[in-house]
Amino acid sequence: MTRILIDGGEALYGEVDISGAKNAVLPILASCLLADEPMIISNVPHLHDVTTTMELLGQMGVYLTLDDRMRIQVNPSLIDSYIAPYELVKTMRASILVLGPLIARFGQARVSLPGGCQIGSRPVEQHIHGLRALGAQVSVENGYIKAQAKRLKGTRVSMDMVTVTGTENILMAAVLAEGTTIIENAAREPEVVDLANCLMAMGADIEGIGTSTLTVHGVERLHGTEYKVLPDRIETGTFLVGTAMTGGKVRTRGTRVDIMDAVLGKLEGAGAHISTGDNWIELDMRGKRPRAVNITTAPYPAFPTDMQAQFTALNCIAEGVAVITEKVFENRFMHTHELQRLGADIRLEGNTAIIKGVEHMSGAQIMATDLRASACLVLAGLVAQGETTIDRVYHIDRGYENIEEKLGMLGARIRRLPA
Ligand code: EPU
Repeated sequence: MTRILIDGGEALYGEVDISGAKNAVLPILASCLLADEPMIISNVPHLHDVTTTMELLGQMGVYLTLDDRMRIQVNPSLIDSYIAPYELVKTMRASILVLGPLIARFGQARVSLPGGCQIGSRPVEQHIHGLRALGAQVSVENGYIKAQAKRLKGTRVSMDMVTVTGTENILMAAVLAEGTTIIENAAREPEVVDLANCLMAMGADIEGIGTSTLTVHGVERLHGTEYKVLPDRIETGTFLVGTAMTGGKVRTRGTRVDIMDAVLGKLEGAGAHISTGDNWIELDMRGKRPRAVNITTAPYPAFPTDMQAQFTALNCIAEGVAVITEKVFENRFMHTHELQRLGADIRLEGNTAIIKGVEHMSGAQIMATDLRASACLVLAGLVAQGETTIDRVYHIDRGYENIEEKLGMLGARIRRLPA
């Protein structure tokens, strides 16, 4: 199993290019199932989850080719299977995103139930509830969600909680439904907006994009288009936090400034100097130690749960005491136990972590438990004195493109050790 070795203590300096957003490209690739013509998706990040999605679509009969500019051509005209098998869904929960498109376009779908994961139980009853409201017959048999429908019928779907992939699934189902669907309490995450914009480019008719009420006027068909995936705000935030922790100065290029407010606000609270341009964000820490910042996660536009672990790492070496409250997932603090092995002072109380910043952490052997936990441990390794070895780093390849190359270019002493 590959490991990452970090020799801590180097501040990050320089410029880094931000990749396309994982959580946008996955639903956008799934949305290709809705088109009756080829699609071209560009700014695709080179990630394990993208490969898994390509494998999943490939098994359904979708023809996919990837060119050297990271553009995927997707030809959905020969689809002959409507199944997302357990073997793939268990490695990537986002496979559930094929459910909405399959039922909308082909009237049938058999998608494995994802089950729990490292960060919480993560049920999908809202996806099922929404599809049933649209007229699909949905049952759960032998671990699979089995859905059937002639043509879905527009209706009012009110989500009990804000769910990102739940909103995306219902949105993708509604675009080909007969009549108008109103999705209430919809997620407003920029990745949901990106999916909606892609669907519009394919000929969908959606009002209220970026708000919590989406009004979808169903259309007969969706055509092919070329669509560029938005930049990854979580990758951007991860590099900025690493820069703040190490006291360095880094410019993230090819990113989006307007979707980063909550994270940039907290970085300024930690003492960082932030400057921005059209598509770049620069963080200058001027060699200073960060100040502790309190964080409470919640759906967009509030502070994202996918940045919680990284800010937990920052607070471990910050000046002062921070309180971190995780409100989206019930078990997203696995990384705190590993951070304690590096010398962090963290106390867990339910969904809250109380962190007393220490002046130094020291390198140790630690283990990644999920994607964002991996990123947090890498950041901690950058500041821990001596060597840190992180096991199970395959998690990081699911969502960060060439992380060790990018950090290495910024001056980090980091390398991957062979299995
Ligand atoms: N929930 C339910 N029932 C449902 C759906 C959701 O109880 O039917 C609960 C979840 O258990 C959770 C909360 O609602 O407590 C929010 O979950 P959500 O459905 O929004 O999460 P998701 O759609 O499964 C996406 C991202 C996650 C990100 C969350 C929250 C993708 C592919 N994944 O997951 O990304 O953390 O939204 O923003 O978009 C990551 O990138 O590391 C990651 C985990």
